[in-house]
Amino acid sequence: TPLSSIRNFSIIAHIDHGKSTLADRLIQACGALSEREMTNQVLDNMDIERERGITIKAQTVRLSYPAKDGKTYVLNLMDTPGHVDFAYEVSRSLAACEGSLLVVDASQGVEAQTLANVYQALEANHEIVPILNKVDLPAAEPERVKQQIEDVVGIPADDAVMISAKTGLNIEGVLEALVTRLPPPVGDADAPLKALLVDSWYDAYLGVVILVRIKEGRLKRHAKIRMMAKGSVHNVEQVGVFSPAMRPVEDLGPGEMGYITAAMKTVADCNVGDTITEDRRPATEPLAGFKPSVPVVWCGLFPIDADDFEKLRESLGKLRLNDASFHFEAETSAALGFGFRCGFLGLLHLEIIQERLSREFDLNLIATAPSVVYRLYKTNGVMEELHNPADMPDPVHIDRIEEPWIKATIMVPDDYLGSILTLCSERRGQQTDLTYVGGRAMAVYRLPLNEVVFDFYDRLKSVSRGYASFDYQMDGYEESDLVRISILVNQEPVDALSFVAHRSAAEARGRAICGKLKDLIPRQLFKIAVQAAIGGRVIARETIGAMSKDVTAKCYGGDISRKRKLLEKQKEGKKRMRQFGKVEIPQTAFLAALKMD
Ligand code: GTP
Repeated sequence: TPLSSIRNFSIIAHIDHGKSTLADRLIQACGALSEREMTNQVLDNMDIERERGITIKAQTVRLSYPAKDGKTYVLNLMDTPGHVDFAYEVSRSLAACEGSLLVVDASQGVEAQTLANVYQALEANHEIVPILNKVDLPAAEPERVKQQIEDVVGIPADDAVMISAKTGLNIEGVLEALVTRLPPPVGDADAPLKALLVDSWYDAYLGVVILVRIKEGRLKRHAKIRMMAKGSVHNVEQVGVFSPAMRPVEDLGPGEMGYITAAMKTVADCNVGDTITEDRRPATEPLAGFKPSVPVVWCGLFPIDADDFEKLRESLGKLRLNDASFHFEAETSAALGFGFRCGFLGLLHLEIIQERLSREFDLNLIATAPSVVYRLYKTNGVMEELHNPADMPDPVHIDRIEEPWIKATIMVPDDYLGSILTLCSERRGQQTDLTYVGGRAMAVYRLPLNEVVFDFYDRLKSVSRGYASFDYQMDGYEESDLVRISILVNQEPVDALSFVAHRSAAEARGRAICGKLKDLIPRQLFKIAVQAAIGGRVIARETIGAMSKDVTAKCYGGDISRKRKLLEKQKEGKKRMRQFGKVEIPQTAFLAALKMD
């Protein structure tokens, strides 16, 4: 295909503004799939994605479009993940394209994520075509939203394409805008190979499949390739395109997108963002901007039933096959036994993995409170990264601690601004910007990530009745007065409940957790003290009174089968608890205890 008839594009949008619906319409309009083959939303292909209506892994589709100018174009649509946790994958996907469709819901307007995505697209030098979606809705206000796009996003919106992805209205307009308004790719077919590794996943039949965008040169079947950052060398077995089913081709040239397989065992060999070149005639410089994606949130995962440990190891290994940004290492906890310390890109990523473990692998797990990665500068001059509050050394060995910060952009209707500002300052936020556009406020804050990981997003949604939108990026490390708070139940420290907090918040948080645990831990035959402590100093305490009567007492004289049922029910309940010394703590206590209200 000549470069002049290729267009590579992605669709960027805030969650629910209609990205997947539009993608499906484009696929349908180009006849890539028959009506019958169109399942609901082809691009979101994982169950959890579909259920939650979010896009996680980038996918790509090659379409063929006969345009009004008489030429037939190859349109490569690159789907991008819609959530902040996957910002790095978004930036790689954008780097693989020359332009973006910016989809904005005409009844909602610009949201925080719209902005974050546009900035990334502009950074990738994209030509951006604004699309106003959902114009079929009575609440649609296309003129107001156009103005908003110009004011807030800062790009011209006069010739925004007005569509309804749902009814199919003006999909043609989108296709024509793609070929007339986006630039074709550039690249020299005779230069040494430079291909961007956009994504990779594990396929049960093909092994590891790599999604590539060719920038220079040609990628041929049977070529010997080299990963420039990783340094590994592989033999290409298959080269192909997605139409949207995988279809093998002889080679891929500049400007093209497609996939390769090369007999790799794990996706850990494929770093998103790496440059693929030819081993015999390598490029001198890799493509710009390679950064490995690093987990920013860690938590422990422990099987409730100790016999499930091996099964958990296997399941984590399987998930890792498909997700190189997920990390895990074995961990032992005095309280929870053998398990794994797991690293995630963010909270959503954590939730998804946890949900898949329970749903697909049928594992009953206890997750400890998520923790960010702290930098400990020890008195012996060594810097250590702390992934687990339980591993915090004695304060006398610590010179200083640094914690990660984020830069957050929050958009919210004026009415709720007050409560959002309060929330941010409660969480040690520093305001860097506050602007108003058409009844909406945009607040930019710097916040410690530690204050965001537990429940910030939930709180934000609840204080704004769901109207606030939020986006963030990492913004460096800063020294902070942090302490580790241990929780003791019946005088025994429960390592899995310890956490790190700012000294100013330690006491209030310790008290809140003790109060919660008091309600979450069932009464026993004896009194139990629940305490929070910094080092040896107790900062909060609650007492759980002794149990007064036997659960079967109320069945006294009743029939025996009812009694047995009750006992069985109680046993069932026990399975979901862990024994700590003499006290049993239910699974639910672990996460609930650390949610702040
Ligand atoms: P993520 O995958 O989470 O990023 O969401 P998305 O942007 O892909 O949104 P999606 O396409 O799933 O659409 C969200 C909701 O809006 C769905 O219920 C769609 O049916 C609906 N929707 C999409 N386009 C239109 C439209 O043009 N008009 C109307 N009325 N509803 C639409």
